Amino acid sequence: MTQPKDFTAQLPDAENATKRVSALRELIRRANNEYYNQDNPTLTDAEYDAYFRELQALEEQFPELQSSDSPTQRVGAEAASDTKVWRHPRPMLSLANARSTDELRAWLKRAASILPQARFQFVCELKIDGLAMALTYKQGSLAMAATRGDGAVGEDVTANVLATRDVVQTLQGSAPDTVEIRGEIYMPISSFEQLNNAATQSAEKQSESGAQITPRMFANPRNAASGSLRQKDPEITRSRNLRFFAYQIGYIEGGALPTTHSEAMEALRNWGCVVNPNIVITENFEDVIAFCEQWIQRRFELDYEIDGCVIKINDIAQQEELGVVARDPRWAIAFKFPPIQASTTLLDISISVGRTGSLNPQAVLEPVAIGGVTIKRASLYNADDIFRKDLRPGDTVLIQRAGDVIPQIVKPILEKRPLKADGSPVSDPFAMPEFCPSCGAKTLKDPDEAVTYCTNTSLQCPAQRLELLRYFVSKDAMDIDGIGDEACAALLETGLVHNPSDLYALTAENLATLAGFKDKKIQNALRSIEKSKERPFAKTLLALGIRHVGAKAAELLANSFGSIDALLAAKSEEISAIPGIGPVIGASVCNWFQDPLQREIIEKLRAAGVTLHAQRDDASIGPLSGQSFLLTGKLTNCTRSQAENAIRKLGGSIASGVSKQLNHLIVGAEAGSKLEKAQKAKVPIHDESWLIDLLAQHGIDIAAQ
Ligand code: IVH
Repeated sequence: MTQPKDFTAQLPDAENATKRVSALRELIRRANNEYYNQDNPTLTDAEYDAYFRELQALEEQFPELQSSDSPTQRVGAEAASDTKVWRHPRPMLSLANARSTDELRAWLKRAASILPQARFQFVCELKIDGLAMALTYKQGSLAMAATRGDGAVGEDVTANVLATRDVVQTLQGSAPDTVEIRGEIYMPISSFEQLNNAATQSAEKQSESGAQITPRMFANPRNAASGSLRQKDPEITRSRNLRFFAYQIGYIEGGALPTTHSEAMEALRNWGCVVNPNIVITENFEDVIAFCEQWIQRRFELDYEIDGCVIKINDIAQQEELGVVARDPRWAIAFKFPPIQASTTLLDISISVGRTGSLNPQAVLEPVAIGGVTIKRASLYNADDIFRKDLRPGDTVLIQRAGDVIPQIVKPILEKRPLKADGSPVSDPFAMPEFCPSCGAKTLKDPDEAVTYCTNTSLQCPAQRLELLRYFVSKDAMDIDGIGDEACAALLETGLVHNPSDLYALTAENLATLAGFKDKKIQNALRSIEKSKERPFAKTLLALGIRHVGAKAAELLANSFGSIDALLAAKSEEISAIPGIGPVIGASVCNWFQDPLQREIIEKLRAAGVTLHAQRDDASIGPLSGQSFLLTGKLTNCTRSQAENAIRKLGGSIASGVSKQLNHLIVGAEAGSKLEKAQKAKVPIHDESWLIDLLAQHGIDIAAQ
């Protein structure tokens, strides 16, 4: 099949159009089946959309080719044949897409041209990327739950839907004789990640006994939701944490349909259904545009995937007047976000060596544009990630950008894997190198970790040495801003520096031998080296680059031991016993200090006057030292500032916002968006009584203050 075409370009003659239309229909049907029935998409949304639009344009240009069974006239895919089917009493429609704000305005213009006298009120909602469901309640009890299928006929999935958390079995309050509630079943992103991780772990366990097991991975939360809903055993569905947002009343018998969509949403809430809270009702179309633009970025704050916004005209009478064209109502439109996925070729898997000797694989990609950014590389995390996805050079891969983070490879498109004449793949499965690509030393994978390391020390492997020096001068560590990345490389290359402690012996004459170093730059470098001697002990400890010692651990060690000498004298068990440190860090610190070369570096740093002991005011020291807290919502036993002061008194710190580094979120009544953010960042969440107990354990009774 040829690539998607620019359908606005020259269209073919009638004969070619007939061929192209039938090829496109076949391709779209196959893609629908892969997407809806097999949970295994092989086209990106953007590719699918391009084919779909090309087909629509051809059918418009050649009306004689139009057909009621064309995918442009139907929604989704036909129900899978091995399940019970359900004919929808009212068809489940789809939505036309707007890909730009201009297309949104064009939609409004069309509606206004049909109803020139009308004033419109718009309801702006999120477009949840899940599975459309029709739930029929009779006398208030759930009688039928069906998928959308092709819009006319769906699958009966009642038993499994009953195992979905937000779907109520019995409606609250007074419900009509029959009501059909429509909405979206979805899987939270966190549950999707857990599910894929569990699949990998179980495949690994089975592989230990010799069998080669490929984990059953889902490409995205939507496919995971679909797969979970089609389980024969509803108990498996229950374990998958499927959720539901209601967004429409399909029809009502034995009761009146509300007169506006917003009233319908209110009725849904009153019946106990979960309605998405991110809704804006407005008469101003500029607010509609602002809503759509805002969510292009804000989507990444949510623990569920959305692929756009849905804009609906609120008044049901107006909706009826506007009617439906083909499979799309004229009274609603989906504003689709710019794609964050694309497919491209994986050219190579390159390995770089990090400062602690970790071997870090990276994907080298055939450059591809996603949302205006050209992507050439993607992170691969670690070898397990590559094995799990079975990525091989030459594969066509699906890649995805999420927010500002580096793109990830979602999966290889196995159907497009290059094969030899005998049908076997051209490339072998990926294996981590046995020898370090920088120094040639043997590599070793710690069985308890996913990472493979170079076995050479950080002072002997050139790649590690460079990364360590860069880390030492970085802003978070010694903050030597006069020495940049290039200068680090040049200092090592010229032999002026062998390890970070040599920086303190550099003279103006030494620096003058480096390319680009003139008077001002030399003075600046020397000044920032000098200034770094005053960095707090915790920063120096961090700058040493001890494996597993990040900012938090460095702070805990500095506060607990107070000086490098106390730390040098400590046994592994003493270090591990510090709350928040544990045996892995403890052993790593101890090992590191046993290396005579590292001890020599410490002595050189000491001789240069670098701070190697904690100043008493570095941080307040107490039982909560090194732990950060954030309070949100209303507390009932004391004021928020009383609670914060008590935490500080015990050495804890108060964070300014939610981040992955936050240790505890304390939630009072009416908590806002911080709670949602913390859930997403997997920060431990506690209620007020937990905090009161914690403070009481350390002798502070805030409830009595
Ligand atoms: S309203 C006729 N509202 O998007 C309008 N749909 O391609 C019916 N969807 O089939 C849909 N979030 O599965 C509506 N807030 C929302 C939605 C939503 C997601 C899905 C739904 C529908 C598809 C349209």
